[in-house]
Amino acid sequence: MTDPGPVPRSIEWIGGLDGAARLIDQTCLPAALSYIDCRDVPTMREAIASLRVRGAPAIGIAGAMGAVLGIRDEHEEDRVAFLNQLDRVCAELASARPTAVNLSWALDRMRTRARALVGYGVPALKKALLEEARRIRDEDAAMCRNIGRHGEGLIGPGTAVLTHCNAGALATAEHGTALAPMYAAHAQGRAFRVYATETRPLLQGARLTAWELGQAGIDVTLICDSAVGAVMKRGLVDVVITGADRIAANGDVANKIGTYSVAVLAQQHGVPFYVAAPSSTFDLSTPTGSTIPIEERHPDEIRFYSGKPTAPAGISCHNPAFDVTPAALVTGFITETGLIRPVTKEDIARALGRSRAG
Ligand code: MRU
Repeated sequence: MTDPGPVPRSIEWIGGLDGAARLIDQTCLPAALSYIDCRDVPTMREAIASLRVRGAPAIGIAGAMGAVLGIRDEHEEDRVAFLNQLDRVCAELASARPTAVNLSWALDRMRTRARALVGYGVPALKKALLEEARRIRDEDAAMCRNIGRHGEGLIGPGTAVLTHCNAGALATAEHGTALAPMYAAHAQGRAFRVYATETRPLLQGARLTAWELGQAGIDVTLICDSAVGAVMKRGLVDVVITGADRIAANGDVANKIGTYSVAVLAQQHGVPFYVAAPSSTFDLSTPTGSTIPIEERHPDEIRFYSGKPTAPAGISCHNPAFDVTPAALVTGFITETGLIRPVTKEDIARALGRSRAG
């Protein structure tokens, strides 16, 4: 599979231990492609919380790099103090966003790595943690590439795919999850169409998915979230592919608010509904979707757009950033090891066992 064309890397570490985590400021897209260099934990935490970097895998990578920023200036003699500082920094970063499990997964992996390196002094630990953060980024790029390989068969010539939010190159290290099969099909020279929902209230579909698919030369049509039913009723959609922020052991899927409505409409209209996600998004310690924490965001995201009021001042709002789609509505998962179809608890555990084994 080729690279997703001109879509640049959403996040990478620049330089050595004294370097920086460089990320695309996604709040500026599509008007401007600008970057921020994060050199300390508060800057990284703010970037995650305000969605400058967003998408489950990308915030996992950001968290791991943020952990490096938080320990690199630690005293070089005291290993215990170093590990305590790592725990503090990881807790601070993990609190930036609660729903995507990739963030806590990556931070736990950094803490586990440091503790496993028994006998390492602080300078060697610092170096090893930077290597681990880079490895998390590189592994994510490889997982996304494999998701593309396993999912591209769902997109034949003339297929119309609908996606919600942005689960593309911007949301991951490279290629994306839901968009990876699209990039892979495009690389094979297949002509197909993508319907991208706007994705209220922060417009990740309009601002980010429409932008990145357009950059890659893929035929993309933007629709309002409320048009999904009408578009499906006219028979214009062959398959839905979305990403995920956390998948419970039974296959319930937390993803961007509105995903559940798309899944219900897909079932009503007989449209297959696939979820593309790497193993880092599965959380087998969460038995069902009912216990996944759902982030509630500031009401001003609904009351204002671009600084202008779009609702009466002080109106009360409910602004959950994610919803949970029951496993029964999911036709299959597209993972780095292959398709899980139909979705059963046992097949999820088996596929995860395979991918975690190697
Ligand atoms: O609030 P966001 O923009 O971080 O939400 C992103 C999504 O819901 C994505 O679909 C999900 O994180 C998967 S990204 C590969």
